[in-house]
Amino acid sequence: MTDMSELLNKPLIKPANPNFSSGPCSKRPHYDVSQLDVSTLGRSHRAPIGKLALGRACSETAELLGLPDGYRVGVVPASDTGAVEMAMWSLLGARGVDVLAWESFGAGWVTDITKQLKLDNVRHLSADYGAIPDLSTVDFANDVVFTWNGTTSGVKVPNGDWIADDREGLTICDATSAVFAMEMPWEKLDVITYSWQKVLGGEGAHGMLILSPRAVERLESYNPPWPMPKIFRLTKGGKLMEGIFRGETINTPSMLCVADYLDALAWVRELGGVSATIAKSQANLQVVKSFVDDHDWIDFLAQDSALCSNTSVCLTLSISQEQVKAIVKLLDTEGVAYDIGSYRDAPSGLRIWCGATVEEQDLQELMPWLAWAYHTVVNA
Ligand SMILES: Cc1ncc(COP(=O)(O)O)c(C=O)c1O
Repeated sequence: MTDMSELLNKPLIKPANPNFSSGPCSKRPHYDVSQLDVSTLGRSHRAPIGKLALGRACSETAELLGLPDGYRVGVVPASDTGAVEMAMWSLLGARGVDVLAWESFGAGWVTDITKQLKLDNVRHLSADYGAIPDLSTVDFANDVVFTWNGTTSGVKVPNGDWIADDREGLTICDATSAVFAMEMPWEKLDVITYSWQKVLGGEGAHGMLILSPRAVERLESYNPPWPMPKIFRLTKGGKLMEGIFRGETINTPSMLCVADYLDALAWVRELGGVSATIAKSQANLQVVKSFVDDHDWIDFLAQDSALCSNTSVCLTLSISQEQVKAIVKLLDTEGVAYDIGSYRDAPSGLRIWCGATVEEQDLQELMPWLAWAYHTVVNA
């Protein structure tokens, strides 16, 4: 539907918060940096006060996410990438690997596995932007590496039903734009990673590494043949370094980022827990969905609604790449939406973050601007 009033009438109301980036994502509503508990700053992270804060980052995460007994949560270096690579370098090589990739970040893990670790017993299951590989073909005798939500294509796995309960291999899941926004079947996942700057609107710096008892078992029984940088080492003398999962980080973390993460967790609790952040994100997606349903020039990149991400919502437009860029620029100049161009390796389009730190009202106010910008650009 092309409604000319959308061209003629420049919307009057702008989103109060124009931050729709897919990472770092918007800070939570009413975020105030001056309210952070910074009593740990300027102190050793190994002092009781620092260890307590880091320990809380682990224990409160486990509690809020409802992790099964025996799952460990650790704060590790180098954001989500650090957590994924640490897991792959520590665990892979013991058996074959199925690695699934349907966008840029998954493709990065394929490169790590085939070109850096140089594993040869590898099956690469791939799909183009907008789709996912055939999940029924995954071999759970192998270790399985996959991304829960492909941030650059806006395509997620539909659920965990395809993951075998009696798997022999481990499932290693990069879930950085899914944890706290999507239902996660923890029992089906042996390694889960995420970062603070996505769904929680925290600060980029550290990764979260969650390990199932089976992952720990592998760590304690398998010694990879390659050198292991100190930053990746999870075991000592063949035993898991349990301290890492109580806040005794491998090296020095940013205690300011830790304070910010604890603040984000408190916000999740206040909101009603993970079910509330999931519901908020889904309601946000519905705003975009209604708009897409009403306009024939815009569509989701995800080909199947069951696979459509409710965090990194990727949209394709039936216009040229230059015109899409002009829309992104126009909305930025108007102070209506920042950083909503698609990821550099992804097909041309828009990517609008719909995680829980984004307010539904702001998305509602953004939609008329999208229509206005579209008509302004195509009629220029
Ligand atoms: C699915 C996925 N994996 C990995 C990364 C890299 O995360 P980080 O920058 O936290 O290392 C991102 C970042 O957007 C991502 O979306």
